[in-house]
Amino acid sequence: MKGNVIIKNASQLVTCSGFQAKQGGDMSELHIINDGAVVIEKGVITAVGKSGEVLEKFTETEFDTIDATGKAVLPGFIDSHTHFVFGGYRAEEFSWRLGGEDYMEIMKRGGGIVATVNATREASREELIVSGRKRLDSMLSFGVTTIEGKSGYGLDEKTEIKQLEAMVELDKHHPVDIVRTFLGAHAVPENFKNREEKFIDYMVDNVMPQVVDRNLAEFCDVFCEKEVFSVEQSRRLLTKAKEFGFKLKIHADEIFQLGGTELAAELGAISADHLLHASDKGIAELADEGVVATLLPGTAFSLKESYAKGRNIVDQGCAVALATDFNPGSCHTESIPLIFVLATLYTGLTIEEAVTSLTINGAAAIDRADKVGSVDVGKFGDLIILEFPSYKFIPYHIGVSCVEKVIKNGIIVFDKANKSCYQN
Ligand code: NIG
Ligand code: FE
Repeated sequence: MKGNVIIKNASQLVTCSGFQAKQGGDMSELHIINDGAVVIEKGVITAVGKSGEVLEKFTETEFDTIDATGKAVLPGFIDSHTHFVFGGYRAEEFSWRLGGEDYMEIMKRGGGIVATVNATREASREELIVSGRKRLDSMLSFGVTTIEGKSGYGLDEKTEIKQLEAMVELDKHHPVDIVRTFLGAHAVPENFKNREEKFIDYMVDNVMPQVVDRNLAEFCDVFCEKEVFSVEQSRRLLTKAKEFGFKLKIHADEIFQLGGTELAAELGAISADHLLHASDKGIAELADEGVVATLLPGTAFSLKESYAKGRNIVDQGCAVALATDFNPGSCHTESIPLIFVLATLYTGLTIEEAVTSLTINGAAAIDRADKVGSVDVGKFGDLIILEFPSYKFIPYHIGVSCVEKVIKNGIIVFDKANKSCYQN
């Protein structure tokens, strides 16, 4: 029967057990079962434990069986912050930055996000689906089973909706699950230059109601940044979004310390993301309010910025998630092993904390900790099998994926030996 599988003899079954975000010291606890087994029935996990004990209770012949001797098994990774639906590329911009040009300066002269907005407006929904699918395939190969995806390269009604619709379509046909975020306030378009308030009115009055009516997004996000949207403007937009029923996210204190972190705590956002320049006070408030602090070290790496202070953020009691921030400009990578190694070497997370950040805490950052992010009975059967016996190989094999198989809802959807093994 499809979706019925037993994985047995795993040298390490790293369960990351839990149904909510893990804060501070709790992030170190991975709940590992040596010689572990997992049973998945009709796509849902029904038993977890030592191989001997689990196998006694089930008839193996009724299942597909995977022998994971010598391999570590973990929950599928959750990439809780991506901008993966867009038109065009910005390879030129990368070389401009190498030549010393500044990310925000490039954006101000009509490059950066604005360039991707132009290309995305020109792309058809079909084109966005085709390129989006390739990117999802790549993410899947790194062991990612659920992502968050943002709009934000339209900045107008038609294109924002086109991006979100492309994600709806991709979600239906691709094994990677997609949680959608409306990021209409990602930049100020040319026709609203110096009229940011009017642009927010336009988003709130014209675009948000449609996104809600058509159930196109669960979260609302904003780029709260110097010379983009102020704290006051972000507060106004997000407060309206909350009234509309959106859950909140915020790009906070990425390039300048503006106070987006404090705003996330004030509004009860689900996550505050980036935090390169977050204040200690802001971090303490995130911890108090249970807002997930999402770190995106690939972006600091790619922009040659200083990294978020991951060690300090965990020590202050926050729940930390890690994500790629995959996008065409500031961080063009879907590589989980790259993010993982940067997080451990440069933000100060331990390997155990990084695993938690990409699993149960990633799930919490998209409000899915009750369904995914750990190997617990009742959760979706989303697992990865590594080529090696320990999770410690993830950062050790620098930037290279050691994911051998990916299982989504109890079905093998990626196998290194046979790359494309899911049916559209
Ligand atoms: O998270 N900071 C704003 N948005 C993205 C970058 C998007 C882009 O450069 O296209 C980010 O870094
Ligand atoms: Fe982002």
